[in-house]
Parts: sequence; C-alpha cells; structure tokens
Amino acid sequence: MFNLPMPSMGTFQPSLTFPASVWYSCHMDTHKLFGFTNVDGTNDPDYFIRFLDEASAEESFQAYKHYSFALLDLQPGQHVLEVGCGTGADAQMMAQRVAPGGRVVAVDGSRHMIAVAQQRAAGCSLPLEFQVADAHRLPFADDSFDASRADRIFMHLESPAQALSEMQRVTRPGGRVLVYEVDFETLTLDLPPREHTRKVLHTWCDSFRNGWLGRHVPALFREAGLEDVRITPATLWLRYPVAIQMIGPATVERACAAGLLTPDEGADWLQRLHQRYVAGLLFCTLTGFLVLGRKPENS
Ligand SMILES: C[S@@+](CC[C@H](N)C(=O)[O-])C[C@H]1O[C@@H](n2cnc3c(N)ncnc32)[C@H](O)[C@@H]1O
Repeated sequence: MFNLPMPSMGTFQPSLTFPASVWYSCHMDTHKLFGFTNVDGTNDPDYFIRFLDEASAEESFQAYKHYSFALLDLQPGQHVLEVGCGTGADAQMMAQRVAPGGRVVAVDGSRHMIAVAQQRAAGCSLPLEFQVADAHRLPFADDSFDASRADRIFMHLESPAQALSEMQRVTRPGGRVLVYEVDFETLTLDLPPREHTRKVLHTWCDSFRNGWLGRHVPALFREAGLEDVRITPATLWLRYPVAIQMIGPATVERACAAGLLTPDEGADWLQRLHQRYVAGLLFCTLTGFLVLGRKPENS
C-alpha cells in the first residue's frame, strides 16, 4: 500500500481559462483571502464553495486525495470521521469505500458548508452523515472511529494541536489519523523578475494564520504521541482561476500596501503573470504533506 506511486499532476496547459478583464477587476477583500476560518461570517459564502469546486476538479488534488484514502486503508464496515469536510466530496468518496456496514461522519464549522454538503449527498444512499462541529471540540465519545482525516483545514485553525488531540481522542486505539496540509512557503512560480516574485510569495505565505503549518504537522503528530508516523509529500498544481487571482492581484495589492513593491512594479508583475497564463506557460505549484499516524494500542 505504501509503495503506491503518486500519479502525475496533469498535462502542461491551463485547465481553465478566464478573460484578461478578470485579472484587473478582482479586488479580493481579506474576507475572501482568509475566510475559511469563518465562512459563515463572510459576505459571500458561495465564493468558498466555488474555490473548493475548482480545486477539486484539478488532477493534482484528486491524486493526493485518492492517495490519502489508500493510506487510511479504508475497508467496508469501518467508521470514519472527516474533519472540516467542506462540500462533502471527500466524505462521499470515503463512504463508497466503507460501505457496506461502515459509516462516514463528516463535520465542518460552517453551517453553509454543511448545508451544501447535505444537498449534494441527498439521494446518494451512501452511509454518510454531516454535522456542524468545531474541530477544536469534537462532539463524539472517545474511541468512536476506526480512522479520522482532515484535509487542508489545520492552516485555518486557532490551535491545530488541539484539533489533532481531538482527532486522536475520538479514534480507537490502533486506528489511523491522517492530516494533509500545505506549506505556503513551498509555493513556486516560474516568473521573472525573481526579486519581485520572492516578495510577492513571501507576502502570500505570511498573510496566512499558519503559513508554515505543512512542515510542522509531522512534529505535531510526534508530540501527540501518534505512532508509525509516515510523511508523503504531495504537490498541487495551482492553475485554477480562483487560486491564480488570489496569488496574483490579491497578494500584489498587499505587497504594494506594505511598501515591498511600488505600484508600477506591482502592475508590471501582474501583467507578466497574466501574459504567461494566457500563453499557457504559467507553472505554479504548492507542496503539502500527507501525514499518517496510528493511535497507540494501549492508550
Ligand atoms: C480549505 S477548506 C477544505 C475543505 C475540504 N476538506 C476539502 O479538502 O475540500 C477548509 C474547511 O475547514 C472548515 N473549517 C475552518 N475552521 C474550522 C473549525 N474550527 N472547525 C471545523 N471546520 C472548520 C471550513 O469551513 C472549510 O470548509
């Protein structure tokens, strides 16, 4: 199982296109940039649904998600918890693997996300239920699940260590715990001039609550006492419109406001980014880490 090769990220061309006008008219408020912390408190919760849908459509996202299911070794009959389930797409895929006899319980802090997840799963007759719950305080008894999983949620949390401790608590002894988290300082972008690109990328990383979390998750697992900790890097190809808008115009706006770039330098950088994108030459990646651990048998 652990020797499964990671599939390729896809062919080198933009998967989705959008007009030039979008680039220059996409002022992103901070709600949109960092709103996953509190989707219901933003002025446009559907924006976050679109963000997740565009990401999930990408081959590189599907690749690591399927790999994570293989790492969890999901089997019919198992009870699995998904923390921060978003639109519920991953929970549905896991439910197919644990049926018959098993069950997936998927929680998210956002009522809007849970409503969308419930709508999308209606009528699918999978063993699946959705609940609103905070990752820091999971409403389940100790040792309730065979496995628990959290995908790109820890970076948004006030206390990732507390959330991991909760996942560990509700997982049975010997059960598996898996977290996938990106590290924003691994963002690569093939775009000159380097000194400007570096400033934009550092601004991007430092804008997030836990921009370095990806590299820190393995230590969290060890500190929590999880055993057999395995780490698999998984690189995402960021070529969907929402991501490029977020990295480009939204971050340049912040870099200019912080005095790191002049307005002319910012505009020039954005123009290069756009030209490269429409020419099908833009290559932008972000690496995350799948971290798998086992709850000790005697805990
Ligand atoms: C980037 S999305 C990832 C969604 C999903 N795991 C996926 O891979 O598509 C992060 C999710 O974490 C949820 N979230 C943020 N803070 C949370 C918390 N304290 N408790 C539970 N969910 C939370 C958000 O509402 C959002 O649905």
